[in-house]
Amino acid sequence: MDEVVGNRRDRGPNLHATEPPDRPQRPVDSVRIRPARTDDLHRIVEVETECYTIPWSPRAFRSLLDRAHVRVLVAEVAADQGGDTADRDSEYGRRVVAHGVLWHIDNEAELANLAVERRHRRRGIAARLLDQLLEDASKAGVESVFLEVRESNEAAIALYLGRGFRQVGVRRHYYERPREDARILRRGLARDGNGQAD
Ligand SMILES: CC(C)(COP(=O)(O)OP(=O)(O)OC[C@H]1O[C@@H](n2cnc3c(N)ncnc32)[C@H](O)[C@@H]1OP(=O)(O)O)[C@@H](O)C(=O)NCCC(=O)NCCS
Repeated sequence: MDEVVGNRRDRGPNLHATEPPDRPQRPVDSVRIRPARTDDLHRIVEVETECYTIPWSPRAFRSLLDRAHVRVLVAEVAADQGGDTADRDSEYGRRVVAHGVLWHIDNEAELANLAVERRHRRRGIAARLLDQLLEDASKAGVESVFLEVRESNEAAIALYLGRGFRQVGVRRHYYERPREDARILRRGLARDGNGQAD
């Protein structure tokens, strides 16, 4: 899928601009997780640009929306929940604050992207998105989900370990700028759409 999203090895969380809160925040009451649509692209790319040093382009996201084996989900919250009502971009007063992308081939999948707008972090939104992506993957027949994460990305690693992923390998010096190892994590999925296989 790198022909769509480009070289992922330089990519990292945008830590300088967006240090995540170091403790849990008030949970968001009304998070809604749903498939991304074309009219979400503007917000998706805003969140993406805040979150990553090398964000995926609008074109990359657009092309993923059309692919059969790619799941792109967004999380939206009421625009007045920890946010500016002035800049809401939905006629329903809801605002996209996070996205997740998982693609699969046969029974194996890769979690390729997960990003939450900084001011909405530590409210359980990534966990909700991830759970939904895993449930959808399981229903599609996926039995193993893999992901790569920078060694220093403590927030993401804590999230994944808490969601049943386990380390199965390391790619030495996988990432550039800064050079860093990638941890490879895996989680098995049960066939019933939810539970964990191993
Ligand atoms: C990683 C990221 C997606 C987490 O999003 P989030 O919505 O804040 O995560 P959640 O609130 O769902 O956190 C769920 C659990 O993950 C762990 N966690 C999340 N952020 C953490 C942090 N900064 N420090 C420690 N643990 C953290 C906690 O166990 C947390 O549960 P708790 O809040 O009840 O303690 C977010 O920080 C982000 O967008 N980072 C930049 C992009 C990125 O690095 N993506 C992952 C690439 S592999």
